[in-house]
Amino acid sequence: MQPFLKWAGGKRWLVQQIPQIFPFEYNTYLEPFLGSAACFFYLEPERSILSDTNGKLIETYLALKKSHAKVHDLLKYHARNHSEAHYYKVRAQKLNALHTKSAQFIYLNRTCYNGLYRENKKGIFNVPKGTKTSVILSTDDFNKTAGLLKHSELCHCDFEDTIDRANEGDLIFADPPYTTAHNLNGFVKYNQNIFSWKDQERLKEALVRADMRGVKILVTNAAHQSILELYSDFGNIFVLNRRSVISGLNKGRSDTSEFLISNYKLPCTDIEELKLKMPLSKEYQNFDASP
Ligand SMILES: C[S@@+](CC[C@H](N)C(=O)[O-])C[C@H]1O[C@@H](n2cnc3c(N)ncnc32)[C@H](O)[C@@H]1O
Repeated sequence: MQPFLKWAGGKRWLVQQIPQIFPFEYNTYLEPFLGSAACFFYLEPERSILSDTNGKLIETYLALKKSHAKVHDLLKYHARNHSEAHYYKVRAQKLNALHTKSAQFIYLNRTCYNGLYRENKKGIFNVPKGTKTSVILSTDDFNKTAGLLKHSELCHCDFEDTIDRANEGDLIFADPPYTTAHNLNGFVKYNQNIFSWKDQERLKEALVRADMRGVKILVTNAAHQSILELYSDFGNIFVLNRRSVISGLNKGRSDTSEFLISNYKLPCTDIEELKLKMPLSKEYQNFDASP
């Protein structure tokens, strides 16, 4: 099924473009950088551990798991009342009940500028209203969402805690924020505060430990020399090319590349495996993933 949130770096496009990247068999599915959970909703696994450091995001999933009908009713209320004034009133509300916070989160996600999630220094969501007006989507099926989440453990935690819980035969899909070493463009500087190069190294080390326990692993990351060097002794590295819309003046549409790294043989055969040549051609030395 489709994710119900729009999320920066969301992998909806990946499962639409090349869905055959997951192994046919695995025990528990672990997704330590959950965001909009595009891969979880595509796979619909029987058992899963899902986590993210965004506490409000995890609360949103928890509320749907426990009381999806209440969340849906409130979302319908927001749809009926949607306006500029309503958006800013809801954005400013400090709520306590889980289902009210969840409806607030989904409403703001669907109507804010570009579906962005950004907080100020006090931890308050501060994205302005966008142009989208659909609060209820034709793809919404909160009953099914709740059913899928019923067999999921949802955790508000750092990725390492989740990865360290994976056992032999489990599957980890890791889609971290993209940061690279030695790169000074604005996007990376901004993201460095969220996910530093030290975090990238910590992620790789946690995945190596999981690999040694017999866990199946799939990682996405920036198509950049530093990531290639970091994962040069780990599994197979593939290049994903996609047409994407880049926002900003005169940028229009362009091709972007990302790496897909796996420690198992991918079922699909039609993506290019990177021939490890160091240093890489110029295209992997500059990373520009401006959202
Ligand atoms: C690229 S997004 C994941 C997108 C997701 N695959 C999807 O389909 O929407 C990365 C996520 O990592 C989360 N994150 C950032 N730092 C983290 C950390 N140290 N541990 C766990 N999650 C983290 C962010 O909150 C964000 O939701």
